[in-house]
Amino acid sequence: MNTPDHGVRSDGPVVALVPAAGRGVRLGESIPKAFVTVGGTPMVRLAVEGLIASGVVDRIIVMVPTELVDSAVALLPPSGSVQVVVGGAERIDSVRAGVAAAPDAAYFLVHDAARALTPPELIARVVAELRTGHRAVIPGLPVTDTIKAVDPTGTVTGTPDRAQLRAIQTPQGFAAELLRSAYAAEGVQATDDAGLVERFGVQVRTIPGDPMAFKITTRLDLVLANAVLDGAGIQAVAP
Ligand code: CTP
Ligand code: MG
Repeated sequence: MNTPDHGVRSDGPVVALVPAAGRGVRLGESIPKAFVTVGGTPMVRLAVEGLIASGVVDRIIVMVPTELVDSAVALLPPSGSVQVVVGGAERIDSVRAGVAAAPDAAYFLVHDAARALTPPELIARVVAELRTGHRAVIPGLPVTDTIKAVDPTGTVTGTPDRAQLRAIQTPQGFAAELLRSAYAAEGVQATDDAGLVERFGVQVRTIPGDPMAFKITTRLDLVLANAVLDGAGIQAVAP
């Protein structure tokens, strides 16, 4: 991949896995979310372009719904370094398919297509931190809402100290062996990839995230993303 050099050591391929096989139920469009356009470009293409622009990714594997493999190949940048594979029923199944497709990876980045506006600079920071020897690196932002724990009836059971909470984004970076082991375990379940490796007792390092790495989940998120790309006076601001 012909990309700028951010000065990190290259001691093994960095493979980015892009889960793009979700249906986008909460967004409610007629096509799977990763194929919905933002500023005229499908989210999955924006996410892949961001990874390429970071200059720290050697190969990209995109996981899509089975019926959209050909469409994905057609709309992604024509590069020998970008590969499309079939995803699975749950996000975890899609990531597992990506892990299996990259036996040569030294590092994995797992990066949601739905975080289409993620700045390349954030991607480069995750990889730089991996290269310093951290085996699991995830970006996060302080939470601005107060978070309550509730029981199934909706009664509050606790209020965790907000200062100790982070809203976690992607890309999440891992030493490849660690992520392989996490996905090889039986009955794995977690809402993010770091959640899987935490079970191994491995320290997961957080680094500052970026507001522009927000996940496009709802209609409101899509409006925001389009406004950002329209240059509607919305700039990335430090948290
Ligand atoms: N994803 C995936 N395979 C799945 C489910 C999700 O690759 N079976 C991907 C999505 O395409 C998205 C990312 O994982 O890029 C984050 O998931 P989410 O935001 O939940 O997207 P969807 O699952 O598509 O949305 P929803 O949950 O509203 O249906
Ligand atoms: Mg989902």
